[in-house]
Amino acid sequence: MRKPIIIGNWKMNLNLEDARRLIVELRQGFIDVDERKIDIVVCPAFVHLQGVNFQLPVNIKLGAQDVFWKERGAYTGEVSPLMLKDIGVRYVIVGHSERRKNVQETDEMINKKIEAALSQKLFPVLCVGETKEEREKNLTDSIITEQVTKDLEGIKASSLEKIIIAYEPVWAIGSGKTPRGEDANKVAKLIRKVIEERYSKDQADKVRILYGGSVDQRNIKEFIDQPQIDGALVGEASLSANKFIKIVEQVIK
Ligand code: 13P
Repeated sequence: MRKPIIIGNWKMNLNLEDARRLIVELRQGFIDVDERKIDIVVCPAFVHLQGVNFQLPVNIKLGAQDVFWKERGAYTGEVSPLMLKDIGVRYVIVGHSERRKNVQETDEMINKKIEAALSQKLFPVLCVGETKEEREKNLTDSIITEQVTKDLEGIKASSLEKIIIAYEPVWAIGSGKTPRGEDANKVAKLIRKVIEERYSKDQADKVRILYGGSVDQRNIKEFIDQPQIDGALVGEASLSANKFIKIVEQVIK
């Protein structure tokens, strides 16, 4: 049995005061949530990680939105996995489509980031997904296969169960549009097949696969009910305590 996981990606939103207020509300909302039943993760901006961490209860874990692939050195502006680990970060989003697009992050860079995160025992949350144009050209399967293959290149089988993969169709992010639950499930199944071919069925069955893209309290059920989907990566709706709590409630029901 794979443990469900709901991750809130706050992106470049909130000031410190609002971020802390959100945590206070989530803490209250999750007061009865058993951390053995579900992993709940919030990913604030780098500058708010520490300020938020002080207020987190045991059943909400801290995640970062990115990481650099070196441990230390002359890399102006970057943040290392060692630094994240040091301040209590447990999860790190890697290869989000907004980074692939806005700062031209490549699969090679993403692969190095996953390696680096694993070296500090952080859980990498690898994001993959096709654009609208790729979907229209029926390229979804080949894009997903290529991203998963390149991003996991050289990753040891023993590390695999720490990796979480989020299927986030680019066209679904922030658009209010989503694929049907069955279609997202098919892609999750494909991801497992790609992993099985490179590792083993056993390994593929252990990896947690999430859906992300316009998830909210009204549509979460459609995705979490799918056999291959183990949770969600939530953007906009994770900025509202009320919506995020309702999402988690439906997952543990
Ligand atoms: P939205 O939920 O706002 O569509 O964002 C999804 C996402 O990109 C999470 O990483």
